[in-house]
Parts: sequence; structure tokens; C-alpha cells
Amino acid sequence: CGIVGYVGGQSALDVVIAGLKRLEYRGYDSAGVAVLADGGLAAAKKAGKLVNLEKELVDRPLPSGSTGIGHTRWATHGGPTDANAHPHLDNAGRVAVVHNGIIENFAGLRAELEERGHDLASETDTEVVAHLLAEEFSSCGDLADAMRLVCRRLDGAFTLVAVHADQPDVVVGARRNSPLVVGVGEGEHFLASDVSAFIAHTRSAIELGQDQVVELTREGVTVTDFDGVPAEVHAYHIDWDASAAEKGGYDYFMLKEIAEQPKAVADTLLGRIDASGSLSLDELRIPDAELREAEKVVIVACGTAFHAGLIAKYAIEHWTRIPCEVELASEFRYRDPILDARTLVVAISQSGETMDTLMALRHAREQGAKVLAICNTNGSTIPRESDAVLYTHAGPEVAVASTKAFLTQLVACYLVALYLGQVRGTKWGDEIHAVVRELARSAEKVEQVLETMEPVRALARSLADKNTVLFLGRHVGYPVALEGALKLKELAYMHAEGFAAGELKHGPIALIEEDLPVVVVVPSPRGRSVLHDKIVSNIQEIRARGARTIVIAEEGDESVAPYADHLIRIPATPTLLQPLVATVPLQVFACELATARGNEVDQPRNLAKSVTVE
Ligand code: G6P
Repeated sequence: CGIVGYVGGQSALDVVIAGLKRLEYRGYDSAGVAVLADGGLAAAKKAGKLVNLEKELVDRPLPSGSTGIGHTRWATHGGPTDANAHPHLDNAGRVAVVHNGIIENFAGLRAELEERGHDLASETDTEVVAHLLAEEFSSCGDLADAMRLVCRRLDGAFTLVAVHADQPDVVVGARRNSPLVVGVGEGEHFLASDVSAFIAHTRSAIELGQDQVVELTREGVTVTDFDGVPAEVHAYHIDWDASAAEKGGYDYFMLKEIAEQPKAVADTLLGRIDASGSLSLDELRIPDAELREAEKVVIVACGTAFHAGLIAKYAIEHWTRIPCEVELASEFRYRDPILDARTLVVAISQSGETMDTLMALRHAREQGAKVLAICNTNGSTIPRESDAVLYTHAGPEVAVASTKAFLTQLVACYLVALYLGQVRGTKWGDEIHAVVRELARSAEKVEQVLETMEPVRALARSLADKNTVLFLGRHVGYPVALEGALKLKELAYMHAEGFAAGELKHGPIALIEEDLPVVVVVPSPRGRSVLHDKIVSNIQEIRARGARTIVIAEEGDESVAPYADHLIRIPATPTLLQPLVATVPLQVFACELATARGNEVDQPRNLAKSVTVE
């Protein structure tokens, strides 16, 4: 969910709505606002995207005030209805609260409130907070105090922002786990899930830590812990350019972000490979001696970042000979994984806020493991809580389905693998030098792929009425197939599955029927040619059963041509690095299919870019 709060001299409603627009990527099931005006509190909320709320505000305008809060929701407790939308109010309509996260003990608290005569209108866990705040406020008369008292009774992960009609120039926020940042202006202050919500007004920000309560007035910001002990605040300057998060002439952010991939890849490599072809990753902050002693690497991530992790495993094990496991972050801590001080855990996350990944890394650190974050968002929670961080430099990624962040995660994973190889001296010979040279050329190759995508778009449009598409790959092509299928699910809402090509014959081949589109990622015929030849056989097997084969193969690889109904060419690239070029046509394919099917490319149904609940 996305949260905004404002107190200052401007129209709170305008500031809050503009902020919510920037945060809509965090969830768009429903949206709502509350403003303090004329001694009272006025609120509006609407199911569906923010535009629905904006229409509602035109039909039924709110009085204007200079203190307000807003929310754009990704539903957890209770469906995306008007009633379940935030803000939630107490029965007297004096308190309004918005919330991101899950309050785990809400059922017990709700029962208590009902016993005391409160009437709860929604199915959400948030509403109990509005009622609890109203109760506490009636005895202590101060919203920040009330918030501290309430937070001490809540279990789970939450960010809360509230206003009370009796304190018209105050906004109070509380943070446990889910993100919340303060924007510091002149005579005005902002609260938001991320800085993009207020970057148009100020570049000065304050990070909130775990279990802190913040009180904003026009003049000042006070931060304490849940017991009221003043906390030290860490202020920082936001150094990204607001225009980087504009569409810049493209119809969708996703199209722009796909096109930005060569630059994103180049920026992520910048300054990390020296003229002699050695890696310099001083920023890692984990001493080389510790990296030399690591006995195991464990990668944790979710969604697209998980696929980057699957690819990293091949590179790490091949180049360094250190055993590497990859695990879905949401599964990790619940199976009692074996970790110790000699385990290097790599947490991959674009946003740096994914709760599943955060919880996995906390668990790893509790067990004594060292955690390295690969992250795209400066100052976000995951890098802050890790021992070290390697930032990807994709720039802000707005489209919910990840593209450029994925490619830069791959680059970062290769850099980590190569660096581990370098410090440990394993296999650090001609092969690695050749790989480093190839990696340095990858931005150029991604550019070449992008220049030849028109036939892929035409093919995608011709498949708009299909129900199922399968994706096959071997070795690193297998996670590429998984990512291709995920993109299609996310964007085109089609049944799409990725399989290891060799596994197909053990079951999934039963799915093949006449004219079923099957995308096959073919590894380079050079180097690991056994792999190549095996997949050519797999293509023949599915074609013999009627599949329509869409083959992604290297330029000059003629052996696949006779079996390809559609041939998509990618530049010759060593197999381990091939995902950098092979994924791009799959992104374009999914994006075009989504458009052809009339779907919303940047904000697919049910999804959110940054999922801050477990
Ligand atoms: C969400 C997004 C996915 C993303 C995943 C992990 O589910 O919809 O696109 O891959 O989270 O996000 P992260 O920010 O941790 O990379």
C-alpha cells in the first residue's frame, strides 16, 4: 500500500492526491483521503484506482484544509470495496487512520472493542486502530501519545498515519517494518511510503527507524520510540531526479523501462570493472578474508528477483565452486535453514522493502550469517539491515512488472560471482577474463536486441486469442523460461508456465496440443554444445506433437531453423550471460500481448510493485 500525510500551508488534498499518484504502483485496489477542515474531519474513499476517487471528489468536493492523509491500497484483510478502503474512522468521525501492513492480533482487539460498544463498519484490521486511537485520545488528549499507547498493543507489521480533528495541525505516523519516510519542507512536512510522493516539494528527508512514532506539525518533526523516548533522527538529501519517474513520451512506463535497459546495464557495470579486467567492489564492505572463508551462498528473493537468483546460482557455482542455494524468501525462515557465520546470504530486491525478503534476511542475520543485499533503492530497509549492499543502478522502476531492474540484478549477480571467484582465486584464468570482457559488452548487445523487436511484437499480436503459452529452457535458459512465463501471467493474464526442457517428457508434454505456442530458449551452440544439441532434440519432440515453436536462438545458429515456426535472433553470448539478452524478447512479447488483450500494462490487476506484507 502507499501512504501520504501532509501538514503545511498548501491544500492538503492537492498534495496528498499528487503524492498518491506517485505511489499508486504500491497498490491500486482502492484509494481514500481525509482532511481536517473547519474544526472537523472530512473523508472520501473509493474502490478501484485513484481516478475513481478523483471523480468522486469532483462530484462531492471535500472542504479545503491544510492537514490531510491519503492511501492507495493493496487489499489484505477484506476485499477491495468502498467500505474497506482507507482511511478508517472512529464512530464519532474525529480520527482518521491509514495503514500499510497487517495487524496480526486484530481479531482479539476487535472483539474487545465490540464488547465496549464500538461499532466496526469494515472487515479490515485497520479500523480497530481508529477506534483504539479515539479511546486513548479521549483520556490523554494528544494524538502522538495515543499512537504510542496503541502501537504497544499491536502485533505484526504496520505503518500507520493518523489525524484527529481536535489537533488540526498535527499528523502522526508510526512505523514497524513497513516503510515510512518524512519529507522536510519550509513550514510544511510530509510523510510517505517513499520519497517519490513528495519529491516535487522537497529533497530533504528523514528516515524513520523500526518501532518509532513521528509527530509532524508545520514547524517541526518529533520522533520517539513507542515508549516516548526521543530518537535520534537521520536526515538525508534525495539525489534522484524526479523526471526519471516520468513516462517521457512512451505510452507506458514499461515500454520506457524496457528501452532503458542498455543504460541500466551500463550504469550498473560502471566503475566496477577496471582497465585490467579486474573487479573492484570496495563498496561491498565485507572483508575479502570473510568472502574467502564463505562455505556456502544462499540467495533469497521473491518474484522476478528470485529468477535472477536462480541464474546467479549457475554463475556462482561454476566460477567459484562454492555451493549455492536459491530459495523463495517467503519459504526460507519457516523451514529452519542451516546457516552460520560461514554462510553468505544474498538478498535480491528491487524495492528493498519486500517483507518476505526482509524477514528472510533478518532470520539469516540472527543465525550469524553475513547478508549482502542487491538492491535498486537507496536507503531502503533491506540494504539498511544488511551487512553489505551492491546497488543496481536501474533508476526508478515504476511499471509493476519488473524489466530493467531484473537485467541489472543479473549484472549485479554476475559481478558478485566474479568477485567471489577473484578473491578466492578459483578458476580465475582466461575463461573469467573472457567473461568479464563479454559482460562489459552486454549493454551494447541488449541494445541490438531492442532494435530487432518488431517481428516479436507482430507475433505477440497474432497470439492474442490464445489461452496458454509454454516456455522451455535448459541451464540458465530454464530460469529465463520461468521469467518469460511470469511476465506473461503478470501482464497478459494468460496461463503460462516455464519448464526445464529436459523435464517436459516426464509429464508436462501431455499439455502439448495442435498449435500450442511454445517458446524455447536455445543456449549458444559454442561452449556447452551438449546442452544446445539436447534442446534441439526437445524442440523436435514438441513439434512432432503439433506445438507451434517460437525459438530464441543465437545469430548464426542454423541448426534450429528447420524446427522453428518463428525464429527470434539474439546476439551470440556465452551461455552463462545469455539471460541478459534472451530475457528481452520475452519482456517485449508479454508487454505487446498485454496491450493486444486490452490490459493495463503498468498496473496489472491484483498486483503491487512493492509488497510490504508477508
Ligand atoms: C512484487 C512485484 C514483483 C517483484 C517482487 C519482488 O511481487 O510485483 O514484480 O518481482 O515483488 O520485489 P522486489 O522489490 O523485492 O524485487
